[in-house]
Amino acid sequence: MATVTFDKATRIYPGSDKPAVDQLDIQTEDGEFLVLVGPSGCGKSTSLRMLAGLEDVNGGAIRIGDRDVTHLPPKDRDIAMVFQNYALYPHMTVADNMGFALKIAGVNKSEIRKKVEEAAKILDLTEYLDRKPKALSGGQRQRVAMGRAIVREPQVFLMDEPLSNLDAKLRVSTRTQIASLQRRLGITTVYVTHDQVEAMTMGDRVAVLKDGLLQQVDSPRNMYDRPANLFVAGFIGSPAMNLVEVPITDGGVRFGNSVVPVSREALSAAADKGDTTVTVGVRPEHFDVVEHGGAETRTLSKDAPAGLAVSVNVVEELGADGYVYGSAQVGGEHKDLVVRVGGRSVPEKGSELHVVPRPGEIHVFSTTTGERLSD
Ligand SMILES: Nc1ncnc2c1ncn2[C@@H]1O[C@H](COP(=O)(O)OP(=O)(O)O)[C@@H](O)[C@H]1O
Ligand SMILES: [Mg+2]
Repeated sequence: MATVTFDKATRIYPGSDKPAVDQLDIQTEDGEFLVLVGPSGCGKSTSLRMLAGLEDVNGGAIRIGDRDVTHLPPKDRDIAMVFQNYALYPHMTVADNMGFALKIAGVNKSEIRKKVEEAAKILDLTEYLDRKPKALSGGQRQRVAMGRAIVREPQVFLMDEPLSNLDAKLRVSTRTQIASLQRRLGITTVYVTHDQVEAMTMGDRVAVLKDGLLQQVDSPRNMYDRPANLFVAGFIGSPAMNLVEVPITDGGVRFGNSVVPVSREALSAAADKGDTTVTVGVRPEHFDVVEHGGAETRTLSKDAPAGLAVSVNVVEELGADGYVYGSAQVGGEHKDLVVRVGGRSVPEKGSELHVVPRPGEIHVFSTTTGERLSD
């Protein structure tokens, strides 16, 4: 087992002047499951390939444990990688596929057989050891690819979107299997995905990348509760956080007909930048639907209902709860909003709701820089 350190690691592809990965700074703990997540092209695979030794590092360093591996060839790094397309040898049996790296390394036959059988047991592949990959389902092939990594007993597992070839249902069950397997083996793992749900459900910690730049590294809980900037706020969570630009007023922000309290620090941080608005983030589950104008928040006009009027465009009923997709007038603009409601109080399409963000559950960001202002 070992830690993995990206120490200001930078990759600039030949012919490009912009780094694909720009001074990436992350340190994993021993045995940690770290997920790199971000939209396509943000530099996830490049980061992983730098760690694997498949891509040159143009600045900074990469360490595994105390070893500086920045310029070591892949075979000397003591890592095993699972790729998106599994890359199984079609003419070899499952057992031979799983044991191939050990055979190349000169491990004797009985030792290989023992390791392959152990891994097969863990992965529920014992009865398929003599089959060829084409006689396996997608999920089984994925497990063979995992098995090939496990038999090598590496210090670090690297996985690049290993579930993307599976159908939606299998993806969900396999992600649980991989996460629990990793916990059982305790091998430090760096896992790449573009799917934020996968990232949030699998990772001990999640690192969000955008345009080659690290945005935030945090536990899934902190990432959800305290996104560091507007990008992370919009990227993590499904349905996404509602982000609305609103005017600053005395002691808070104006949200429709209500004033929602915001910490003094956040407001003065915005004022210091000369901003008259902030961007407020509210998760769909953090709106209160106001029934009869009896909100606890301060209203601006006594004659109008509290909060923000949302006209209901689409309702998604999920049984336990439901999502209202609506639109509202905010700051003279038409804005789409998503509001979670209880499963027994789902409004009708075409009706109007009045919503107020729950005090203490709103996120405040600078409209100009995107950075988080509230604590
Ligand atoms: N071999 C390459 N040569 C030049 N540019 C590349 C190469 N591989 C990736 N890139 C560029 O580097 C950026 C990051 O790519 P990549 O790490 O594959 O992103 P991700 O895995 O997050 O989708 C992208 O802009 C991509 O076009
Ligand atoms: Mg990729």
